[in-house]
Amino acid sequence: MSESQSYRINIAIDGPAGAGKSTVARKVARALQYIYVDTGAMYRAVTLKVLESGLSTEDDISVGSLANALDIVLLPGAESQLVHVNGVDVTTQLRSLEINRNVSYVARLGSVRTRMAELQRRMALEKGVVMDGRDIGTHVLPDAELKVFLTATPKERAQRRFLELDPEAGITLDQLEKEITERDRLDQEREIAPLLQAPDARLIDSTGRTVDEVAEEIVQWGLAATRTILAEEK
Ligand code: DC
Repeated sequence: MSESQSYRINIAIDGPAGAGKSTVARKVARALQYIYVDTGAMYRAVTLKVLESGLSTEDDISVGSLANALDIVLLPGAESQLVHVNGVDVTTQLRSLEINRNVSYVARLGSVRTRMAELQRRMALEKGVVMDGRDIGTHVLPDAELKVFLTATPKERAQRRFLELDPEAGITLDQLEKEITERDRLDQEREIAPLLQAPDARLIDSTGRTVDEVAEEIVQWGLAATRTILAEEK
């Protein structure tokens, strides 16, 4: 293993829903032998518990206490990352339309964001993490050595999410595009840590590009960033 492969940095990948962040981030992590952290899944896990408990997504204090008491563990799985909440695997429950429709309301609560950011920073302490989300480069890991803002047109993003959904879900591609655009609006306009490209993030538009191409570009940037740091330290 070369020096630039054994020295580890943190990589932040932010962007709107369906831009391909998780697929790309997982590939980048695999190529560099880093740990992949899907922060959206953490907000989805909290949302699942909020819906199960019957709490209002407006109730910052109660939802915050619930989030603080949850033991959220991310584990590597064969296909995707597994999410365990209080020892139970909830992975397959996190991509439902009901969660999609509520998660932005839970994710805008200050109490929830504080708790999630704290857990996420802890996961990145040892470096060697590829973390995807909305506020990783701007807020959670502002010192990440490589920041990427990954986007694609709303139509392409809706098509990608459409393929992820259960065909029985009963939603058309047009409806999904409207819902994605609305979720982007909520994520961009929220007061705390909104979806935003960090000034020092590199922009990638993944429209019409393959996952492999985009992931390879990020891997090369990661290796280049590592070489620069090593050269500066010498
Ligand atoms: O990436 P995703 O679609 O699984 O994210 C689900 C929701 O969680 C998304 O609407 C915004 C929110 N989110 C967030 O606010 N901050 C993050 N770091 C990650 C996700």
